[in-house]
Amino acid sequence: MSGVNVLDIARRRGFFWPSFEIYGSCAGFYTYGPLGALLKLRIEKLIRDHYVNKERCLLVEAPILTPEEPWVASGHVESFTDMNVECTKCGEPHRADHILEEKTKKSTEGMSLEKIVKELQKVGVKCVKCGGALGEPYDYNLMFKTYIGPGKSKITGCLRPETAQTTYMPFKRLFELGRKKLPMGVIQLGKSYRNEISPRQGLVRLREFSQAEAQFFFDPDDKEKNPKFDQVKRKKVMVVTKGDQVKNKEGGMMLIGDVVKKKHASEWIAYLLAVSMDLFQKMGIDGKRLRLRQHKDDERSFYSSDTWDVEYMSDTFGKIELVGIADRTNYDLTRHQETSKQSMEVNIEGKKFVPHVIEVAYGIDRPVYSAIESSVRKDGDRVYFSFPPTVSPYQVAVFPLVKKDGLPKMARDVYDSLNDAGFYALYDEGFIGKLYYRQDEAGTPFCVTVDYDTKKDQAVTLRDRDNQKQVRVKIKDLADVLGKVINGQIKFEKAGKLLK
Ligand code: GLY
Repeated sequence: MSGVNVLDIARRRGFFWPSFEIYGSCAGFYTYGPLGALLKLRIEKLIRDHYVNKERCLLVEAPILTPEEPWVASGHVESFTDMNVECTKCGEPHRADHILEEKTKKSTEGMSLEKIVKELQKVGVKCVKCGGALGEPYDYNLMFKTYIGPGKSKITGCLRPETAQTTYMPFKRLFELGRKKLPMGVIQLGKSYRNEISPRQGLVRLREFSQAEAQFFFDPDDKEKNPKFDQVKRKKVMVVTKGDQVKNKEGGMMLIGDVVKKKHASEWIAYLLAVSMDLFQKMGIDGKRLRLRQHKDDERSFYSSDTWDVEYMSDTFGKIELVGIADRTNYDLTRHQETSKQSMEVNIEGKKFVPHVIEVAYGIDRPVYSAIESSVRKDGDRVYFSFPPTVSPYQVAVFPLVKKDGLPKMARDVYDSLNDAGFYALYDEGFIGKLYYRQDEAGTPFCVTVDYDTKKDQAVTLRDRDNQKQVRVKIKDLADVLGKVINGQIKFEKAGKLLK
């Protein structure tokens, strides 16, 4: 949004900042402050609750640090690479494909290393930092490696670059726990690590990042039809298919039902795309800036037969991938079966097969950033975040009008009661104008003020962040009324006596 520096507010108000600042920072690492950590927590919870409660996924949590062997099996040791090229003068590393794209303004998607080397020589790209000559580009593996254990018994360990493999490894155990039924969904949330070559885009490209990845396991003959597809088929979304991109077309608005009818995607993939669009909008991410984009054949990851992303168009960073939905076939389970020599086959009514997987892979840091960017509002001199109460760091802040005459005690009691009722509540005191201003910048949707009249009428003033209207509500009704306003059961103006 013009005139507002979102990154500046985010840093000043303690949403997030570069880590290790007192030692000069280290690219690709960010620390979430009090507001950002709560926003992130609530965004993770929104995703987790949807998949656990609505899609009936099992929840797992596996180690982040693993032996190397699973990553040999999965293909990451061989293929999880980016092309690195270093300056011969200052040593600055560059993504070879990115600096070529910046120079030529043409996509390098699907280009081999050899081709990139030739093109870089042809156009004569120099170091972005010092103008020095570049060395020979090479494939650089993005996994962080370490050792597990001491001395001669130590083995090579890897920090996982995705949660997915750590969900696939215990598949047979999970299948038993899921009562041997398919489709079966499993979700895992947690950190993953990628030793990015040159991360310069804040929360958008991190070396340590958070993911929420749901894996749906299928009988391969039964992975097309989704029983809940009717619920989403009338949703209209911006779609760019791989065919559009090959023909240099921009794509267009399409019903989810038509994405399937025109055979661009299966019902399952289209359903999960629609679910993801809904979740992003519930986070306050602007739906008009979201689009579904199918990967081109030369762009897909080595394990996938069809991949779609939901992308957000950021003012600051351009196109950001928020979730990737991929048909990973039986590639991963088969590779683990071959390498570990443990069967990944299931036997359902005499039919034996290795299940196929459709994966929904959310980054968490990117939706957090996109929600912050989408929610910033400027109204005259007033700047606020319009986070929906479903994800806002705090849902309600409680203040005494003044710090005397027993008002703080009453306000603390109101705060305690809201906290006990399960709201994300905050207590603060000070000058009332400043308190409102602080909560606007924190994106808190509702503020409650205890004033002198509270002693007489046992009521408080409830203020709506977005329109600054105020209603008078009895303390005994406050939790109930606030819950109903948050759930959309009643309009704010009907929540109590409207104050002029
Ligand atoms: N699991 C897919 C990804 O991390 O991109």
